[in-house]
Amino acid sequence: MTEFDRRVERRGTSDLKWNRALAENYLGTALREDMIPMWIADTDFACPPFLLAALRRRIDREIFGYCAPSAAFGEAVCWWQKERFGYQADPGWVVMSPTVVASINIAVHAFTLPGDGVIIQQPVYDPFAAIVTRAGRTVVNNGLVCKKDHYEMDFALLGQQVQEPRNKLLILCSPHNPVGRVWTRAELERLAHLCLENNVLVVADEIHADIVFGGRRSIPLLSLSRRCEESFIQLVAPGKTFNIPGLKTGCAIIPDPAWRKAFADMQTAMSLD
Ligand SMILES: Cc1ncc(COP(=O)(O)O)c(C=O)c1O
Repeated sequence: MTEFDRRVERRGTSDLKWNRALAENYLGTALREDMIPMWIADTDFACPPFLLAALRRRIDREIFGYCAPSAAFGEAVCWWQKERFGYQADPGWVVMSPTVVASINIAVHAFTLPGDGVIIQQPVYDPFAAIVTRAGRTVVNNGLVCKKDHYEMDFALLGQQVQEPRNKLLILCSPHNPVGRVWTRAELERLAHLCLENNVLVVADEIHADIVFGGRRSIPLLSLSRRCEESFIQLVAPGKTFNIPGLKTGCAIIPDPAWRKAFADMQTAMSLD
């Protein structure tokens, strides 16, 4: 078990979080001396022992030449989805990718053209908008609605946005960062229905799915129905769960063979494979 109350020294590990100069450079602003770095989703706990042991076993093989994803990778991803969320995916659907942000970038380039609209639900993790804009696509904001103590999706607006032929893709954040919503089945089904009916591809960033509270459980987008499985893409990663984003481990679950090939080809074209 991870020891949650043991302090781990991060200085000297090239960490971004506690290095003021690096953080100021990254954020483009000066930070006050007494500020603590809450701007980045990066915890200060040691890695769990099982993960350290696996890494040590690999290091003990003493060789780090070019590698290709093994079947065990897809099997491990599917095992986790089944164990945690009750969703059975096929290991053959799993495409290894450096990070979730890289996967979103690949998807935007693979499944939309310059000028197309990409729907996001702001306020949301800011790389979503940056990726879309940098790719020469248009951010279409299906802004979340702030209620008394939580945010909700604006389905009326989404219903209009998905009907616009230029809007080809929706990047879903599930659970949502930063508003902290674990979307209910009803909410996800409503969003999925609108997108399916209008041929809008949904790419679900589920990187925070393991870290939910209050007896809730994140629902994998692909688990909603056979149609969702055939039509959508789910992005997962152990980066947040075990706080290993520095190891660059992400993956996309893409059941549809044509989508999967298009994603893999774009990943290769971007030299991210
Ligand atoms: C919603 C969301 N997606 C993706 C990431 C980053 O994931 P990765 O390091 O795998 O690109 C974060 C990090 O905070 C995040 O909050």
